[in-house]
Amino acid sequence: MIDSGYYQATDFTGLDALESSKAPVEVGGKVGIVLPTKDEPRWIQDETRFRDALKAAGYDAEILFSQGSSAKEQENVEALITKGVKVLIICPQDGTAAAAAADAAKKAGIKVISYDRLIRETDAVDYYVTFDSKAVGAQQGQYLVDKATGKGNPLYLYAGAASDNNAFVFFDGAWSVLQPKIADGTFVIKNSSEAVALQGKATLTRDEQAKIIGQVTTNWDFNTAKNLTEANLTSATAADKGNVFVLAPNDGTARAIADSFGSDKDVKSYLVTGQDAEKASIQYIVDGKQAMTVFKDVRTLVKDAIGAAVALLEGKTPTAKGSYNNGKIDVPAIQSPVVSVDKANVKATLIDSGYYQATDFTGIK
Ligand code: BGC
Repeated sequence: MIDSGYYQATDFTGLDALESSKAPVEVGGKVGIVLPTKDEPRWIQDETRFRDALKAAGYDAEILFSQGSSAKEQENVEALITKGVKVLIICPQDGTAAAAAADAAKKAGIKVISYDRLIRETDAVDYYVTFDSKAVGAQQGQYLVDKATGKGNPLYLYAGAASDNNAFVFFDGAWSVLQPKIADGTFVIKNSSEAVALQGKATLTRDEQAKIIGQVTTNWDFNTAKNLTEANLTSATAADKGNVFVLAPNDGTARAIADSFGSDKDVKSYLVTGQDAEKASIQYIVDGKQAMTVFKDVRTLVKDAIGAAVALLEGKTPTAKGSYNNGKIDVPAIQSPVVSVDKANVKATLIDSGYYQATDFTGIK
């Protein structure tokens, strides 16, 4: 009588008690989760946090990995469709290629939640659960700006995979902070002619970002990052080195990039950014090899994703705070904050909060 709109809930008292006495929605077997790869600690963190949260809630959901392959991802989605899931939580390997998988899910009546990375160019995405990725890039850029004094500081730029929408958002955030400091001469870009050609522009179009990313992409891969950095250092002169400032997009690539700068005899000091607060990078920060990381509390992302999945199973619309355009539609989104972490606050942020144990590291007491 109420849900149909015949009467208004406000006409009565006692409806809340009725609502809370309803049986909870059955989640078991109805939610499928697809993550990009087991080869990066970031996504293992997500798997672990998903398993912990599902267990705590008494839920059961399958988690499949795509191992860096869009074809495998499509297979995973087909398998979950066959199993009869009602909600799909998916972090796409390739944001545009995943549109086909999302379309197939939609056709089967499944609600799709894009997780961390946005699925592009399709109307089959119902909801987007993400971190504030622009803030991730802005915090990386700000760290370098805060540490730079004088003029002419050598700046090396590296980016994520062009197939990942986040790579653009991170770069956009970093550029918004770095560009004014490039324009005023604080920094001089040393490894990207495309970035130099665009350095007068405060805001870049996606196509312009793509030109720079195409030149400095790590493809989110340790070896690609290592090879690119070594190639950059080989073609740079000793004068292009000295005390260098390095925008590295995430922890996995940051360690490769930092190792390469660290073994160049003309590099006197190097400040390298990162993100994800991977354990290995926390150790690098403690050891002074990586300058900072951006902590993204995966527990929050997992909680938001599960909350959205349950709302969708109940036929409700999950709460959105804004939206992201995916090239086709504005996807309702919820985003969580991120925290800049360096030697000074690593203990307070990651150990005292209980996220990691001090015993996981050497040098943190
Ligand atoms: C994620 C990062 C991750 C990167 C590489 C991005 O989409 O937001 O946390 O480091 O992909 O996997």
